[in-house]
Amino acid sequence: MTGTALIIGASSGIGAALAGVLVGEGFDVALVARRKDKLDEVSQRCNEIAGRAAARTYVHDVRNHDEVAVLFERIVQDLGGLDTFVYAAGVLPDIGPDEYDADKDRLILDVNLMGAVAWLDAVAVKFKTQRFGTICGISSIAGDRGRRAYPAYHAAKAGFDTFLESLRNRLHPFKVSVVTIRPGFIDTAMTQGKEGLFWVISAERAARIIAKHIRKRHGIRYVPARWMGVALIIRNIPSFIFRRMDI
Ligand SMILES: NC(=O)c1ccc[n+]([C@@H]2O[C@H](COP(=O)([O-])OP(=O)(O)OC[C@H]3O[C@@H](n4cnc5c(N)ncnc54)[C@H](OP(=O)(O)O)[C@@H]3O)[C@@H](O)[C@H]2O)c1
Repeated sequence: MTGTALIIGASSGIGAALAGVLVGEGFDVALVARRKDKLDEVSQRCNEIAGRAAARTYVHDVRNHDEVAVLFERIVQDLGGLDTFVYAAGVLPDIGPDEYDADKDRLILDVNLMGAVAWLDAVAVKFKTQRFGTICGISSIAGDRGRRAYPAYHAAKAGFDTFLESLRNRLHPFKVSVVTIRPGFIDTAMTQGKEGLFWVISAERAARIIAKHIRKRHGIRYVPARWMGVALIIRNIPSFIFRRMDI
């Protein structure tokens, strides 16, 4: 398989691992994030996997929405077209059980949701016009319910999920697929030091599963699939019970 993919949030974790899997499948990739040194490391690894210059890097902070139009056009030109877009950028700062911090919450919403919306709007127009393309959003099981732990993160992922669903419905007539990925716990910088994690899998394993869902243009998928059962239960716990549960 060959193709061209743009990954936002490609300097570490799931986005970086996915870049490696995609170049292994024959893709050319554009890697976007803030940390140039990390992007260069990922790019070098991608080029080694591919055995050719398959990766390009672009430094960008997703909170700078004004940069999106020009950067997107540049990336599409550099790649010679685009058929796959992945939004993997995200932040999850520590938030204490008694903490209500509007600055942290704004950061979470800006990176996980508003940055995604800015990029997805640009990508949607291009894919609709060319009448093909696959959009993949790395959401989370955290978007399924408003749990106690991270109010803004749960809200951001729920909003991201719903935005992706609307895009899926809007773009379906134009042969554009929208894949929503809801990972469980993945061993990345984001989960380091966090307690109470289980069923943790590596970013590389998650990336292989995600690449398969992109290839097959699936709609909504939990990664790994066993989280679907957990999500089904959590979604159906009545509110009067859920509010008493420390999860
Ligand atoms: N790890 C898990 O258990 C888990 C579970 C469910 C969902 N997810 C989701 O998976 C996605 C990837 O997370 P990860 O676990 O791979 O964590 P990670 O290793 O911390 O990766 C986060 C990525 O987002 C980028 N990013 C953060 N802020 C940014 C900004 N302002 N502008 C541009 N890029 C920014 C980071 O790059 P720079 O810092 O270089 O900018 C990095 O490439 C996130 O959306 C996360 O919510 C993770």
